[in-house]
Amino acid sequence: MAPPPLSMEPTGWFQVAWSPEIGVGAVHTMKYFGREMVAWRSASGRISVFDAYCEHLGAHLGYGGHVVGENLACPFHGWEWNTEGRNVCVPYEEHPNKGRRIRSYPTVERNEAVWIWYDTKGREPYFDVPDIFADFPDDKTADDYYPPVPAATLYCPGLELHPQYVMENGVDFAHFKFVHGTPFMPEFTRHDFSGPISYVDFTIAFEEGATLEGAASGVESINAGLGCAVTRSWGMVDNRTMPAVTPVDDKTSDVRFTVWIGRKRGEENTPDITGFGKTMAGFVIEQFEADIHIWSHQRYSDPPALSRSEAQGFRAIRKWANQFYPTPDGPDELVTISRGELDDLRKAAGLAI
Ligand code: FES
Ligand SMILES: [Fe+2]
Repeated sequence: MAPPPLSMEPTGWFQVAWSPEIGVGAVHTMKYFGREMVAWRSASGRISVFDAYCEHLGAHLGYGGHVVGENLACPFHGWEWNTEGRNVCVPYEEHPNKGRRIRSYPTVERNEAVWIWYDTKGREPYFDVPDIFADFPDDKTADDYYPPVPAATLYCPGLELHPQYVMENGVDFAHFKFVHGTPFMPEFTRHDFSGPISYVDFTIAFEEGATLEGAASGVESINAGLGCAVTRSWGMVDNRTMPAVTPVDDKTSDVRFTVWIGRKRGEENTPDITGFGKTMAGFVIEQFEADIHIWSHQRYSDPPALSRSEAQGFRAIRKWANQFYPTPDGPDELVTISRGELDDLRKAAGLAI
């Protein structure tokens, strides 16, 4: 029997847009996790993500809904909903319908992107979206890099690809040589899967015989759940990347990839990415595309046929990934009572046996 497919409703943070795509006053329509959604930005700049349908009579807020100050107004009868999804105005009544609320998703903007928290059980976020600068141990900031959006991004909507595949890259040393053409296998120097945010570091040698200490370059990655990762490289062209995979429905995902390239001397103050930055970002994106080419046609292998040296890493990452999948709610505990107890209860209730 084929193993059940991996759930496309894992818990975590998922990128739904790049920040500049949703300007002040914009209402953006999208579909994730099988649901119609809208993302909108209030006059003060705050972004909110809602289920798309108005709680009054069900108009789709993405078709004619408009921003009024800090509220989103429905195109059908003008009811207004605040950034939390609460009704704050029924234009033809004295009072709003205070009890009514459109489902809204916890939303953060970080690393030039908009993220929503998705959890089938409705729990509040219990981990955070990593900051691609502050969460790495150096003091570089966004100013040290060319602005990545939109010139250094890749957007591949609707691929048959599960978010877990991208995370498994973090233990899969054997693919580098074949997919990315590196001359030698990388060596992992850190695998920390102890919490919902995991850490994977590896070094890449470009010369034969290079020792771990003498390794030419490496990558460090912080993986927050299955939808969100940030990486930093050292020893090669200074770059940071952010792969993000967001399920659209039970089969497909949107893939986004953002690349920050370190500014070259003399280009410290250019407002936009330069030719050099674009070329370098292109090389990094090309490598990611090579992975996508595999992932988008892959079928999940469970249990996989693992070699001795890769087994431990794959087992660890799959165990880590498992924590994000919804567990079916167990049946209510069965209470068994004996015939005698039942008779007593009936008597007490005055029922004929
Ligand atoms: S359906 Fe939205 S206000 Fe009536
Ligand atoms: Fe890869």
